[in-house]
Amino acid sequence: MYEICPSILSADFNRLGEQLAVLREENINILHIDVMDGMFVPSISFGMPLISSIRKECPLVFDVHLMVTDPVRYIGDFARCGADRITVHLEACPDVRAALEAIHSQGLKAGLSIKPGTPAGEVAPYLGDVDLVLVMTVEPGFGGQSYIAACTDKIKAVRRMIEECGRDIELQVDGGINLSTMETVMAAGANWLVCGSSAFGPDIRERVRTLKAGMADIEKRLLPGQAER
Ligand code: DX5
Ligand code: ZN
Repeated sequence: MYEICPSILSADFNRLGEQLAVLREENINILHIDVMDGMFVPSISFGMPLISSIRKECPLVFDVHLMVTDPVRYIGDFARCGADRITVHLEACPDVRAALEAIHSQGLKAGLSIKPGTPAGEVAPYLGDVDLVLVMTVEPGFGGQSYIAACTDKIKAVRRMIEECGRDIELQVDGGINLSTMETVMAAGANWLVCGSSAFGPDIRERVRTLKAGMADIEKRLLPGQAER
């Protein structure tokens, strides 16, 4: 199943509630929430208070992307403030398996992310323990960057590994995804597309509709085997 996952990093925080309501009206299911600590990535974004605040009114699936050093320290906190799924970075975890187990022990879905410079093969040992693999298609830390074309082969490699492993694992991509790049990533095997600057803006409803229509169109054109994703 394909999903557009709007990233609130690009939201207008003066109008966050309104914008989340529009996402819901446009049948978006997944909300991507980028948490940055100023250590694993240079930037600092937001954390638990924002998530618990929007949790009160927003029924979307909260897909929390932790760009945080040694994230196992915070899994309980993010679970309590309303995360449904938590993705950690392989490069940020001294013990990857312990972090994934901590997420599952909270009853949440666990994701594992790799930066553009990390080879696809590094996620292989963990495929039995994850619900999602996130292939970063920009250097994590900022919205509005351009898709790194060299990541396309890595998406394909991860898709092959997921197929070989036979488990039901989402393949998410994040960074520079828009109407021009979505066909490339979908054809390579991605099924969850994070969209920050391409989804949010004053015309958010129009943007989301266009992205969803583009995705549906590409899905129809892909080979039947791929269209099941
Ligand atoms: C970047 C974040 C992304 C970001 C994507 O480190 O992980 O989720 O919001 O923004 P765009 O879609 O604008 O590249
Ligand atoms: Zn993200």
